[in-house]
Amino acid sequence: MPELYWPGKATPTPVPAQLNTESFIYPQGSGYPSDIYRNRLLWGDNLAAMWALLAEYEGQIDLIYADPPFYSNRHYPARIGRVEDSRRPDKWRLAEGYPDHWPDLDAYLDMLYPRVVLMHRLLSPTGSLYLHLDWHANAYARLILDEIFGPERLLNEIVWVYHGPSPIRSAFNRKHDTILAYTRGSKYTFNVDDIRTPYDPSTVKTFESSRKAGFGKVPDLARGQVPEDWWYFPVVARLHNERTGYPTQKPEALLERIILASSNPGDMVADFFCGSGTTPVVAARHGRRFLAVDKTWRAVHTTRTRLLQVSDLPFCIQGVNQAGKLPEGVTDLSEQARDGCEFDPRKGQVYLNLESFPELDYWEVDPAWDGRVFRSFTQAIRPRRKGNVPHSLTLTQTSDIQQICVRLMGVNGEQFQTMIE
Ligand SMILES: C[S@@+](CC[C@H](N)C(=O)[O-])C[C@H]1O[C@@H](n2cnc3c(N)ncnc32)[C@H](O)[C@@H]1O
Repeated sequence: MPELYWPGKATPTPVPAQLNTESFIYPQGSGYPSDIYRNRLLWGDNLAAMWALLAEYEGQIDLIYADPPFYSNRHYPARIGRVEDSRRPDKWRLAEGYPDHWPDLDAYLDMLYPRVVLMHRLLSPTGSLYLHLDWHANAYARLILDEIFGPERLLNEIVWVYHGPSPIRSAFNRKHDTILAYTRGSKYTFNVDDIRTPYDPSTVKTFESSRKAGFGKVPDLARGQVPEDWWYFPVVARLHNERTGYPTQKPEALLERIILASSNPGDMVADFFCGSGTTPVVAARHGRRFLAVDKTWRAVHTTRTRLLQVSDLPFCIQGVNQAGKLPEGVTDLSEQARDGCEFDPRKGQVYLNLESFPELDYWEVDPAWDGRVFRSFTQAIRPRRKGNVPHSLTLTQTSDIQQICVRLMGVNGEQFQTMIE
């Protein structure tokens, strides 16, 4: 069988990896469940994360969606401006997003290959991997996947088509991505009835008027049709409600089709390049467990706030090889922050003076800070479109209140942590 070769290609060797629990998130004081590790959000390099997870999850993950950098040699900034008015680009504010720069193709393949090998090991016997790329690298990835999974395990080459402006004048506009779907084994989860779509009204009309129209094959008009392997979903545009501002965010509708088809409720769905968190958000909404990893703190922060807005599932945040460190950019205990926070024990409320924290994006409270793992008991998030972040949060389990710790994150990504005595 033909195989892709490049000079640096090598069998992946283990890298040192340790997971350190950084926070437990209990959405809006939903209580302390025993199984807080059921849903996990990891911050750090996914190769180390996967090595660390192998002991627990080898052969256990039911579905992996992977949307890595595409080898586009571009940089993708995040937009942090409010109401990104497409008519006022001068008002957009940009922040660090993620880079997709590589010295050469070999370096890119050196990144991709060991990760696909580990994803294959993590998949359950009936699991599937959906690898999302575009014309830059999908041909190379296809050969790598054939080598690791076997060519007979190709489920589909899915083409996601979309519209959008393009500066290209010397070729056709490039408006599709390719998703290579492979299964781990010959028996795999595929819930065909959960992804059927209604027939086109013209097809319905034709068959209703003439049963012979399909040369003996009459479609089940009420049940709907099995989608083709090319999908149209609009890209997440500036004014869409699901838009987070994180770059190259994928539409929830796309993930919904993948998750409904290739996993069952209670299954573990993983995304090792989670970005804004589309996969864990859709997985949580459909009763799946999730495991999401990204190496930038902005992605992890975007994912956590998005999860908090759509579900009340508790989850933990773990750092990969970040033992003893505060999350990227957390400044410990500034006096200014201390002045801006107060606790009213009669009402059980923590108040923030928003003037002390202009442009706050998020804050959370741990009522019994142990100096190690932040137990985020209640959270406030800046509304996406209008209004300010709420200035007070209520602690309902007043008996548990000991050392109150408040963590805050500004829209530019700066973070503070402060204690209230
Ligand atoms: C294409 S974006 C993912 C977008 C995501 N599907 C969404 O809907 O928002 C790729 C992500 O992979 C992350 N990433 C790149 N290399 C990584 C690595 N080695 N480990 C973990 N995350 C990585 C980037 O920080 C970026 O957020």
